[in-house]
Amino acid sequence: MDRPIARPRRLRTTGAMRRLVAQNRLHPAQLVLPMFVADGIDEPRPIVSMPGVVNHTVDSLRAAAEEAVRAGVGGLMLFGVPSTGDKDATGSAGDDPDGILNRGLAALRADLGDATVLMADTCLDEFTDHGHCGVLDDRGGVDNDATLVRYQALAVAQARAGAHVVGPSGMMDGQVAAIREALDDDGHTDVSILAYTAKYASAFYGPFREAVASSLQGDRRTYQQDPANRGEAVRELIADLDEGADMVMVKPAMSYLDIVRDVAELADRPVAAYQISGEYSMICAAAERGWIDREAALDEAVLSIVRAGASVVLTYAAVEIAHRLTAR
Ligand code: PBG
Repeated sequence: MDRPIARPRRLRTTGAMRRLVAQNRLHPAQLVLPMFVADGIDEPRPIVSMPGVVNHTVDSLRAAAEEAVRAGVGGLMLFGVPSTGDKDATGSAGDDPDGILNRGLAALRADLGDATVLMADTCLDEFTDHGHCGVLDDRGGVDNDATLVRYQALAVAQARAGAHVVGPSGMMDGQVAAIREALDDDGHTDVSILAYTAKYASAFYGPFREAVASSLQGDRRTYQQDPANRGEAVRELIADLDEGADMVMVKPAMSYLDIVRDVAELADRPVAAYQISGEYSMICAAAERGWIDREAALDEAVLSIVRAGASVVLTYAAVEIAHRLTAR
């Protein structure tokens, strides 16, 4: 041979070498744990399709949040699960200060203060009897602008309850601008908006809908994005940046890593990605059958999301990954 061949394997020879040249590393502080707090239960209730994840009582939520913060996770994203009897057409339990989500937020903020970043899901689907993320018009469609008014009320209630960050996840047009205005008018200029910028109509949300006992009949394809589309995510991003989003998010993560990359290249703000319920559950399910190594697969999946360009990752495995990173 005239010329030595390229030998990239040289940089893989030892663990120390691989560690030195690693281009991406996870840190517990970039992980956000999504948590569910449910009304009307006395004991934490396991979510069958999400091994290790539960619907919390307010007390068990407080204990689990404390543990997550001790493990070093960077933030908590709280979802509320009201009793079925408290659901109605406009999702009024969502902005009731005594509604389960706002009670959960208040309890966590009282316990944890500013020791973590407390985030709230700002959406109606958990609270509506029809299960849609917005209010319906007289033909049964989701009414964009009427929903914005509801999101404003939700966001203000969450900020008053102690959320540092509100996370509008309903994919209504104009939701970031509407929420920013309402927060500012109520004096919450310091409360941030984590915009669900590109959220796709995904089959991988299945286990989450069990977790929140979703009443949805039908689908969300008139507001969540079509999995076929890439350019539309850029359009959504430009709108959210323009409307004042503080952080932007892509969801789901693993089937949408190209979108994570697009958004990371264009956004001048932190980019988050959400490893959703189905992404988590399928790893757990395959691992339960002995087909893959749960820990290695979860670590690799989350690392791939960071490599794609997200600096913040929402994952149901946040605490266990944080423990592993600390032990390393
Ligand atoms: C809607 C919402 C969804 C998730 C969080 N908020 C999706 C949906 O039901 O359409 C999914 C999270 C997950 O699957 O882990 N407000």
